[in-house]
Amino acid sequence: MNKRTKRIIIVGSGAREHALAAGIARSPEKPEVIVAPGNPGMSADAKILSGMPTTSAESADWIASQEPDLVVIGPEKPLSDGIVDRLTDRGIAVVGPSYEAARIEGSKLFAKERMMEAGIATADFRVIKGVQQARETVREWGYPIVLKADGLAQGKGVSVILDDHDLEEALDRFFVRKELKEAQERVFLEKGLSGPEASFIVLTDGTRFIPFPAARDYKRIYDGDKGPNTGGMGALTPLGDWTENDQKDACQIIDRCLWAMRRYGAPFVGFLYAGIMRTPNGLKVLEFNARFGDPEAQVLVPAAGEGLLDLLTQATQGALSTGVSMEGRARVAVVLASEGYPENPVFGTQLEGIEKARQEPHIQIYTAGVSQKGGHLVTSGGRVLSVVGEGASSLEARNRAYQAMAQIRLERGQYRRDIGGRQE
Ligand code: AMP
Ligand code: GLY
Repeated sequence: MNKRTKRIIIVGSGAREHALAAGIARSPEKPEVIVAPGNPGMSADAKILSGMPTTSAESADWIASQEPDLVVIGPEKPLSDGIVDRLTDRGIAVVGPSYEAARIEGSKLFAKERMMEAGIATADFRVIKGVQQARETVREWGYPIVLKADGLAQGKGVSVILDDHDLEEALDRFFVRKELKEAQERVFLEKGLSGPEASFIVLTDGTRFIPFPAARDYKRIYDGDKGPNTGGMGALTPLGDWTENDQKDACQIIDRCLWAMRRYGAPFVGFLYAGIMRTPNGLKVLEFNARFGDPEAQVLVPAAGEGLLDLLTQATQGALSTGVSMEGRARVAVVLASEGYPENPVFGTQLEGIEKARQEPHIQIYTAGVSQKGGHLVTSGGRVLSVVGEGASSLEARNRAYQAMAQIRLERGQYRRDIGGRQE
């Protein structure tokens, strides 16, 4: 009897989902890879399926009607809407945490509670009821200090406060103008930490896990880490300053977090992402995310080689094989964004040269905010695409990425020139 080709659906539409699709498509099983809703720049690597409803129950029905063998959820939103529970109820194997487990990202205080229980090092914090208590805490702790909203706030829920001026601005934003709406129902202050940051991401079945190499993302819009925060303007892996000891400590953090989630009754299955700062007192966790990072996925997914689909399937079965090591080549992702991003991105400009750039050696291009217009790709989102270069060293990877980027023409676009180290 002929076995049906495996059908994999990836939910999302960005460069992270494109990288996951391309990674899964490398499987020797030659699966049918679908991205929903995806974007037209992915069509060489995956089938694009539009029409997915936006509510979680309807989208679960819609996904189930496609009869997938496996579903992978890319972004945070559907996870915190509970799509995984709905798919699981329909008997579908899905890579991603349940509604309860996704709270590790959706509620920073939930994450803090799990960290306290598990003995994971993180910044000291205090829940704040109002402006007066905030001022008192600042008097007690001094600067730097960080004000955080508990809920999801699209990257705007964190204010790093260095002086009185920052403090007044943050208090005004959080307590007077109430810009963050429901995300700020609970607010807390955290002691400021300093040190280099790393993204440590693992695939887990709830107990066992396989770590991807440590990576770094570049959050600010301009070179030299200047300007406002973005979704991420670039990524680098591996990290030159990441020691074997760091790796051991980071694995212990993940182990403890998975233990705390099981103990809470919400085992975490999927991609678990620890945002880590290396302080003079050791690694400390800034946050957990319940999904792969973007643009971290663009540099890390290829490290799983042809075995990614197998590992994803095993994770959903509670039977992840360990002892699998990721391939350690250097990769640098440079994100091309629309002019005006992140505040007021300009859309509708034509993109040229992608095919030429794709032909450069050791280059992958993953698209995000693009749509099709009159036979051309035009921009339709803040982050347009990621160019990923790979090489034997980060220097080689970065030179390749920038060489390929130079082939792409986008009149009203911008990208950082210092991803993976400044270009000489
Ligand atoms: P988060 O969303 O909690 O990861 O915070 C976003 C960014 O704010 C982090 O990547 C850090 O750069 C910064 N940050 C968060 N918490 C702290 C802290 N306690 N001390 C210093 N910087 C922080
Ligand atoms: N690159 C950071 C994130 O995906 O949250």
